[in-house]
Amino acid sequence: MTRRTVRIAVNGVTGRMGHHQHLVRSLLALREQGGLGLGDGTRLWPEPVLVGRREAALRELADRYGLTAWSTDLAGVLADPAVEVYFDAQATSAREAALRQAIAAGKHVYTEKPTATTLDGALALARAARAAGVKHGVVQDKLFLPGLRKLKRLLDGGFFGRVLSVRGEFGYWVFEGDWQPAQRPSWNYRAEDGGGIVVDMFPHWEYVLHELFGRVRTVQALTATHVPQRWDERGKPYDATADDAAYGIFELEGGVVAQINSSWAVRVHRDELVEFQVDGTEGSAVAGLRGCRFQHRAATPKPVWNPDLPSPHAFRDQWQEVPDNGESDNGFKAQWELFLKHVYADAPYHWDLFAGARGVQLAELGLRSAAEGRRIDVPEIAR
Ligand SMILES: NC(=O)c1ccc[n+]([C@@H]2O[C@H](COP(=O)([O-])OP(=O)(O)OC[C@H]3O[C@@H](n4cnc5c(N)ncnc54)[C@H](O)[C@@H]3O)[C@@H](O)[C@H]2O)c1
Repeated sequence: MTRRTVRIAVNGVTGRMGHHQHLVRSLLALREQGGLGLGDGTRLWPEPVLVGRREAALRELADRYGLTAWSTDLAGVLADPAVEVYFDAQATSAREAALRQAIAAGKHVYTEKPTATTLDGALALARAARAAGVKHGVVQDKLFLPGLRKLKRLLDGGFFGRVLSVRGEFGYWVFEGDWQPAQRPSWNYRAEDGGGIVVDMFPHWEYVLHELFGRVRTVQALTATHVPQRWDERGKPYDATADDAAYGIFELEGGVVAQINSSWAVRVHRDELVEFQVDGTEGSAVAGLRGCRFQHRAATPKPVWNPDLPSPHAFRDQWQEVPDNGESDNGFKAQWELFLKHVYADAPYHWDLFAGARGVQLAELGLRSAAEGRRIDVPEIAR
């Protein structure tokens, strides 16, 4: 067994995603399991190089996890030939320029979504990575959620017959920040800083719909800024200039109609923070982050509309749980493993910067649809 150390620059590591999901739950978790086996006797040992803007925060993080490499000098880190992979979990507005720099330095790049704030920018990154011959990947974590994997199992097993429609409900109340601190960063609510729920969530909906049900062919969205004033991390009031809710309808190749509500101004009366109901000719299912319930056509009740009487049906009780049938790891870590195997063992990997560009495209066209008040075609992106 040979151990191969791979130095990975992790930029934006002090943020919510960079710290918790990518550093702790993914890269450090890989070390806890003894590294990542490549199947040929090699074990990869990730050595994170913490990158960010605030020296004190980086040093504190490094000390907390017993790490030694950190820097506020991105160019310097990228100039180090020992650093082979660049990962970006910065605030969205800072991403494109940093990725461009990393690709120019010949690093393999892995990144949070959205890859850029415009389709042109996202495509330019994908083409630059291809021209440079580096490996590239984009986080598409929802595909690795236990609930969506169970849904995929139902689809692959032919459970639904012909899928007719998908109804997604995503959201929760994000506190305004005055009498209780907000649980999301304030840049999320400022369009000029890359915020907005369309830019944030439509990239997720793009790959979920595409991979499970079919490519998105058209989009129609209505956006709103329901909460126009919020308070930032320092308790200062600011104007929310970005959308905090989006009501979207998506037509998919193959005829499925998907409708997804996304909102940071909704209170949860659901079992999970996101749920997708899929209705098919043979059966239906409701999938969340972890669970997935289904109802076969043979077990479908026959309700009759009569508001004069209490319903004789306990509708929620009429569904069955899809069993786990195996353990599921943290989705971010599972995808890191696949990306590192792609880089170091040439394993196939299709969630690349071109796939990431599709998500940016859907967000861009979703916002245009909302601004112009019309349904918009989503052209297929040529690789
Ligand atoms: N895959 C997912 O499920 C998921 C979930 C949430 C966020 N995200 C994405 O991850 C990225 C980071 O989101 P987050 O919630 O961790 O944000 P965050 O504000 O908690 O962290 C942002 C990080 O970027 C750094 N940064 C660099 N330049 C910045 C700038 N100009 N303004 C503000 N911060 C800057 C910050 O110091 C911090 O380390 C975003 O692009 C977001 O879209 C993905």
